[in-house]
Amino acid sequence: MKLFDLTGKTAIVTGGSTGLGKGMALGLAEAGADVVLVDYVPSDGTAQEIKAMGRKAISLVADLMTIKPIQSIMDETIRTFGKVDILINNAGIIRRTPAIEFSEKDWDDVMAINSKTVFFFCQAVARDMMKRKQGKIINIASLLAFQGGIIVPSYSASKGAAAQVTKALANEWAQHGININAIAPGYMATNNTKALREDSVRAKSILDRIPAGRWGEPDDVKGAAVFLASQASNYINGHILVVDGGWMAR
Ligand SMILES: NC(=O)c1ccc[n+]([C@@H]2O[C@H](COP(=O)([O-])OP(=O)(O)OC[C@H]3O[C@@H](n4cnc5c(N)ncnc54)[C@H](O)[C@@H]3O)[C@@H](O)[C@H]2O)c1
Repeated sequence: MKLFDLTGKTAIVTGGSTGLGKGMALGLAEAGADVVLVDYVPSDGTAQEIKAMGRKAISLVADLMTIKPIQSIMDETIRTFGKVDILINNAGIIRRTPAIEFSEKDWDDVMAINSKTVFFFCQAVARDMMKRKQGKIINIASLLAFQGGIIVPSYSASKGAAAQVTKALANEWAQHGININAIAPGYMATNNTKALREDSVRAKSILDRIPAGRWGEPDDVKGAAVFLASQASNYINGHILVVDGGWMAR
């Protein structure tokens, strides 16, 4: 499977301590990559699993609600591994409140990490990737980049922005050998969707629409992440790949 081989590649995965970020970090490591895990809580469990595969992993603790830590994450990555080949911009939050009561803080917090940090992390890695004329950036969007969602207005706005930024940067950076694409996960069983899964009415209505007949799991995004991080996707730029058990086809 040489086309998907990531041996010798260095990946940064944000939000790598749990959920989809952990799943994708393990997927990249299984394909051969060394991984820098960034999260506001330690990602030691993920790092241990990666090291057990014989890859290298470091866990950096940083609060990505602001763009301040990005430069030091880049510095530490370059110091340890010499380069960045892959970025997965996965760390994200959601706030659920009806729009009529929605607070400025819930708007600003969600937009900060889900879209502003995403853009400036892309910019930081692209500066390194451009030197070698190659790199792979994967932003984690959502089905709510396409649909409005229910009582999550800042989340939908932020994921729409992440998808549009992905396309905008593809237009500028494809010529520099950088592939920037997004994954739009469907309804996945992680902390992000705990409230939905605990609401029996919402949980049933969601499950009823998923042709695959089940919620997604972190393992389900591994394949898309490895594909978009590997040379198998060298002529794919600015694409938003849904991984949703068929939800959008319905
Ligand atoms: N679960 C779903 O159904 C679903 C669907 C579409 C998109 N997504 C997106 O997938 C991504 C991963 O979410 P998940 O489902 O694994 O949920 P999750 O809540 O389990 O994971 C979010 C990750 O981001 C980290 N994080 C949160 N705030 C942070 C901060 N201030 N600084 C640094 N790290 C921070 C968390 O520690 C965690 O590791 C998010 O961007 C989310 O919006 C999830």
